[in-house]
Amino acid sequence: MGIRFLLFFFLFSLPGIMCKESPDVTIIVRGSALAAETNDEFVCATIDWWPPQKCNYNQCPWGKASVFNLDLNHTFLANAIQAFNPLRIRVGGSLQDKVVYGVENLGYPCEPISKVAGELFGFSKGCLSMARWDKLNLLFQKTGAIITFGLNALHGRHHVRNGVWEGAWNSSNARDFIKYTISKGYPVDSWEFDIFYVSGNELSGRGIGASVGAEQYGRDVIVLRNILSELYKNSTLRPLLLAPGGFYEQQWYAKLLQVSGSGVVDGMTHHIYNLGGGNDPNIRKKITDPEYLNHIANTFRDLELTIKRHGPWSSAWVGEAGGAYNSGSPLVSNTFLNSIWYLDQLGMASKYNTKAYCRQTLIGGNYGLLDTETFIPNPDYYRQCIIMASAYGEGSSFY
Ligand SMILES: *[C@@H]1O[C@H](CO)[C@@H](O)[C@H](O)[C@H]1NC(C)=O
Ligand SMILES: *[C@@H]1O[C@H](CO)[C@@H](O)[C@H](O)[C@H]1NC(C)=O
Ligand SMILES: *[C@@H]1O[C@H](CO)[C@@H](O)[C@H](O)[C@H]1NC(C)=O
Repeated sequence: MGIRFLLFFFLFSLPGIMCKESPDVTIIVRGSALAAETNDEFVCATIDWWPPQKCNYNQCPWGKASVFNLDLNHTFLANAIQAFNPLRIRVGGSLQDKVVYGVENLGYPCEPISKVAGELFGFSKGCLSMARWDKLNLLFQKTGAIITFGLNALHGRHHVRNGVWEGAWNSSNARDFIKYTISKGYPVDSWEFDIFYVSGNELSGRGIGASVGAEQYGRDVIVLRNILSELYKNSTLRPLLLAPGGFYEQQWYAKLLQVSGSGVVDGMTHHIYNLGGGNDPNIRKKITDPEYLNHIANTFRDLELTIKRHGPWSSAWVGEAGGAYNSGSPLVSNTFLNSIWYLDQLGMASKYNTKAYCRQTLIGGNYGLLDTETFIPNPDYYRQCIIMASAYGEGSSFY
C-alpha cells in the first residue's frame, strides 16, 4: 500500500509547522491499476453511548461526549462535521444493546444510562428520548451528516450463562422508533443490527460481552428486513441494513449470510481493535511496525472472500474501529502517532473493498478526533507531529 507516500505527502504539505526546509518530493500515482473503489461516504466517525462514569485505568475520558449529553449546539462540533462534506456518523457502541427508545407507548420513564454493578458492562439500561433524537437530527441535517444508527439487538433476549444470550429479539420498541423516525422525515442512511461480541465460539465461553448463535441472529435480521420493507413502503428512502458488528469470524459470518439469505444484509460490519488494550506498553512499537500493522490485512482479505462466496449481494463495512480497546490509549490514540495506524487502516480497508470505515470516535474516550473539552482536534496531535517531523528529518521516510 501507499501508506508511506500518504504520510510523506501529509508531513511535507503541512504549512508553517516544519522545523526544517522541505525537500521537493515527486509522487507518482499509477491511476490505471484500480484496486477497489470507495465512495464519498467512506469516511465515518462514531458517537457512542458511554456515560461520564465510564472509566479505564483510573481515568474517565468520556465526559460529556455521549449521545445522551453531548453539547449539540457547540459551533466547533457542527463546523467539524460539516468540514468533511459529508461525514458519515455512526451512532452506536457497546451499550447500544441496552438502549430503548422513548416512544409514546414505552410504558415507563425514559432515563439515560447509569452505573450499576453486576449488569452487562456495569451499566443500567438506558432510554433515548425522542426529544433528544429530534435535537440530534437537527444537528445531522444542518451539517449534512450521513447517519448510521445501531439498534438494540439484545432487547428481549435472556442471559443464559457467561455472556451467552438466548431467545428471539423483541423488535417492537425498535419498530416504533423507526416508525417515529420515518414520520419525522429523518433520513437515516443505514440501520445496524449489532451485538458487540458476536462469537461463533459460544461454548468456549470466551465472550466478554454478549454472544448469540448465528442461526437465531440470522432469523432476527430477516425480521428487521421485513420491518424496514413494511415501514418504508410509502417512503422514497431505502435505508441499508447492516450486521453483525462483531469481531470477524469466518464461520459465523458465512453462516449469517446463508441463514439470512439473498438481499437481506446490505453491509457486513466488523470491528477493528488490533492494537490491544489502551494500557498496552508496546502500543507505540506496534503502531510503528509495518509488519504488525499488516497482520489485520488477513481479516480484510478473508471477509472480502467470505462475502464473494456466500453473499455477493453484500459488502464489507468497518462499523467501529478504535485500534486500542477500553476507550483507546491515553497520549497515543489521540496524538499524531495514531495517524500512522489510522491512515494505514483507511488504505487497507479501501483496498479490500470496504465501503465505510467508522473511526471510534468522533468525540469521546482517548481516541476522539475532537477533544472532549474543547471540541477542537487534540492539541497533542499537532505537538507530536512537529516533534516527529524534526526527529525523522529531511529526506527520510517513516519506516
Ligand atoms: C440549541 O439550539 C437550538 C436550535 O437552534 C435552540 O432551540 C436551543 O435553545 C439551543 N440550546 C441551548 C442549550 O443553547
Ligand atoms: C416485547 O416488548 C414489549 C415492550 O417493548 C412488550 O410489550 C411485549 O410484550 C414484548 N413481547 C414479547 C414477545 O416478549
Ligand atoms: C402506506 O400508504 C397506505 C395508503 O395510504 C396506508 O394504508 C399505509 O398504512 C401506509 N403504510 C405505512 C407504513 O405508512
